[in-house]
Amino acid sequence: MLDLYQQLKSSKHGFGGIFQFTEPVALITHPELVKHVMVQDYRHFHDRNGYYDAEHDPLSGHMLNREGERWTLLRRSVTPIFSSGRLKTFCPEMVQMMVNFREYLDAKLDAEGAKIELKEVMGRFNTDIAVRFLLGIEGTSLTDSSGGLHTAIMREAFRLPSLWKLFLMTSHRSIARKMRLALFSKHLADLLQRTVQESIEFHQQHFIPSRRQNLIDLLAKVQGIDGKTPLTLPEIAAEMLLFFGAYDATGVTIFYCLFELAQQPDLQERARTCVLETLEKYGGMTYEALNDMPYIDQCLNETLRKYPLAINSTRVVTADYSVPGTPQIVLPKGLNVIVPVYAIHHDPEYYPDPERYDPERFAADTSERRAPYTFLSFGLGPKSCVGYRLAKIQLRAMMGMLLSSYAFSSCSETKDSRSAAHSVIKLEGELWLKVNRIERN
Ligand code: HEM
Repeated sequence: MLDLYQQLKSSKHGFGGIFQFTEPVALITHPELVKHVMVQDYRHFHDRNGYYDAEHDPLSGHMLNREGERWTLLRRSVTPIFSSGRLKTFCPEMVQMMVNFREYLDAKLDAEGAKIELKEVMGRFNTDIAVRFLLGIEGTSLTDSSGGLHTAIMREAFRLPSLWKLFLMTSHRSIARKMRLALFSKHLADLLQRTVQESIEFHQQHFIPSRRQNLIDLLAKVQGIDGKTPLTLPEIAAEMLLFFGAYDATGVTIFYCLFELAQQPDLQERARTCVLETLEKYGGMTYEALNDMPYIDQCLNETLRKYPLAINSTRVVTADYSVPGTPQIVLPKGLNVIVPVYAIHHDPEYYPDPERYDPERFAADTSERRAPYTFLSFGLGPKSCVGYRLAKIQLRAMMGMLLSSYAFSSCSETKDSRSAAHSVIKLEGELWLKVNRIERN
């Protein structure tokens, strides 16, 4: 994709034509057109053209794949879970969970020595935070020897489809549906539907006045835009799956940030100093402290630039669109449009020497000088990541806890495990780092 993007970049129209399997696609190559597609002219590009099959793959019915009114309904109903008030009240709980996690890591280091495989541990802990935030109950994935919900959901749910499946689901949807192709197993669909059903029944039978509204409460009470079509059980289960999967992105970002800082001890030290100064200024890891960690933000942004998780953002033309500046060129309704996030993040015009990890790229004055619409990790416009603020708070808290407690360095098993996946950056294999406890106050 990088090569293709560079070849097409000279086009004066801001996009080039390519084929995705047998489908023609417009590949955006200019940030100005990114702005038009994702933000300014959203009404012409309001769907992602995701594959959804209610009958044979009910878990595919989540927000990323839904269109029109159903998407609006879903987005509107989940938004309150990310309100500032809710994030603020969740903050002390999250910090306490991190303190417990540190005790877990300390015990692990005592028992097993200084090398830790962080991918599994962080993934499981991350699912526990998700369970607490989204469902308001204790997660047990970290301590459960079989990996609990984390193993059940993550391992099975986010396997990437094979190319032939992707081909049929992208270019020959009616054949894919006839063949009953599914991304998610029936076992997982049943497990999630059962979890939702049990949660609804439990709370109907046990009234707890101080209980915070959880994701299922919000989704279960949705009445539908026309007042008649509430969400179905499979739709709520699909939404849960998406949220747990999206939550996993924070864990992956932490792995990569630690991986990079382990190679550059001076940057790691600077990040640690930022955390320690902030903790001192605010007397601990408060909500306010988590909103005031500028160098940690620079490191996280640089991580998300280099490893943007969603390699491309896709939109479909929902109404014929005249390309700005050359109105005789019309993108026809139904055409897929790709915003090549990874390629833009690795374009030397915006990020010189793109493979180099350099948080200075996100210092305020450097960011201001860069062309706008060239940092796309959370998407942009009305379809951008709804969990963005939660993700940022959690990423900072996690980096704060880890850097103030441990020093990270490479060991013989450490390797860059980025896969050449076609849709999301996926961590292949394991992530080993050497972890040393540091003096704590
Ligand atoms: C590092 C962490 C995260 C990254 C990099 C990330 C990135 C993204 C991206 C690229 C999109 C698609 C945006 C687009 O099409 O323009 C997205 C959508 C979404 N994200 Fe996140 N995300 C993260 C964390 C989270 C968290 C923690 C949650 C919720 C708990 C979440 C929930 C969602 C949902 C529900 C959508 C679909 C939004 C819609 O269709 O309206 N994300 N995210």
